[in-house]
Amino acid sequence: MSEKDFIPAPYILLKEEGEVSYSSPSNIALVKYWGKKENQIPANPSISFTLAACVTKTSVHYKKKNNKADAFSFDLFFEGEVKEEFKPKINTFLKRIEIYLPFLKEYHFVIKTSNSFPHSSGIASSASGMSALALCFMEMERTFLKTLSEEHFNRKVSFLARLGSGSACRSIEGPLVEWGETSSMEGSSNLFGIKYPYNVHEVFSNFHDTILLVDKGEKQVSSTVGHELMHGHPFATQRFDQAHSNLEKLKSILSEGDLDSFINIVESEALTLHAMMMTSNPYFILMKPNTLSIINEIWKFREASKTHVCFTLDAGANVHVLYPENEKDIVFPFIKDKLVSYCQNGQYICDRIGLGAKKL
Ligand code: PMV
Repeated sequence: MSEKDFIPAPYILLKEEGEVSYSSPSNIALVKYWGKKENQIPANPSISFTLAACVTKTSVHYKKKNNKADAFSFDLFFEGEVKEEFKPKINTFLKRIEIYLPFLKEYHFVIKTSNSFPHSSGIASSASGMSALALCFMEMERTFLKTLSEEHFNRKVSFLARLGSGSACRSIEGPLVEWGETSSMEGSSNLFGIKYPYNVHEVFSNFHDTILLVDKGEKQVSSTVGHELMHGHPFATQRFDQAHSNLEKLKSILSEGDLDSFINIVESEALTLHAMMMTSNPYFILMKPNTLSIINEIWKFREASKTHVCFTLDAGANVHVLYPENEKDIVFPFIKDKLVSYCQNGQYICDRIGLGAKKL
């Protein structure tokens, strides 16, 4: 498929007014996307667990304008309050997707959005936020077209969400979504995420992700800048090759339920992501002392308890603690007794693997 396939057929009717709402989750990458080409094309393929509890709920009220002006027209409310500072990001998103949703300038939108996770918790809201908004616009398009298959709907939402924030394209479906062309994954594309097409062992169903909020402050370096720094990075080629190879290895690990090898890839990916940050120029560190303390505690506990708890990291200091459902009664008490003391104000979020976005 190419970008052109997402330009819609002529609309049969444009409704005067209406409202659509969606809830869309965040996701946590197992093989990380870090580095991109023009138009949000990833430099390497990635795969993520879709989450269930960390979601953005967005509603879009739309009303036809009297005359099609040249500018986009929308009001934005975040958690019930007008948020002028979020508007430029939405405006950039609308500009990028206008060619694929040619109705956007015909309407005035009232966008109301809220997150299930605490504001400024250091949890990236761009994946859930951008995917929820893309879903609302696509739901509008669905009513303007004669036919739209479920498959095309999902692909196009993912395609649009990607133009808002790369990792957002992995938030539409679940429990596992792959994004980025790679020879080992049939149907994979740089343009949109696909539901993982192979067998997954039942040990991964209901997998837990307890998110430890280590540092809720403003990130020192944004992921946009981080991706940028992979251009000319001394280890870029090796890193991109490694991501392809890790994805390929994950196929048998996921189907066989090989938790030891799963842990090895997931933790190595997390540390590699941060190693890329530390070895770029300018270099930077997003982990905090407590991030490292938590990692060491997890390693010690895993050795002693013979469980399969492991960690992964996003582009920040928070730690995602992953473990299977059948070990939760041993692992969760450890998290509460030992790890929560490393969290800022003792804050953590109990999440688990989820099935994707929902229409409200
Ligand atoms: O979607 P972005 O541009 O915010 O990039 C996110 C990148 C990581 O979260 C660090 C990794 C990933 O694959 O989600």
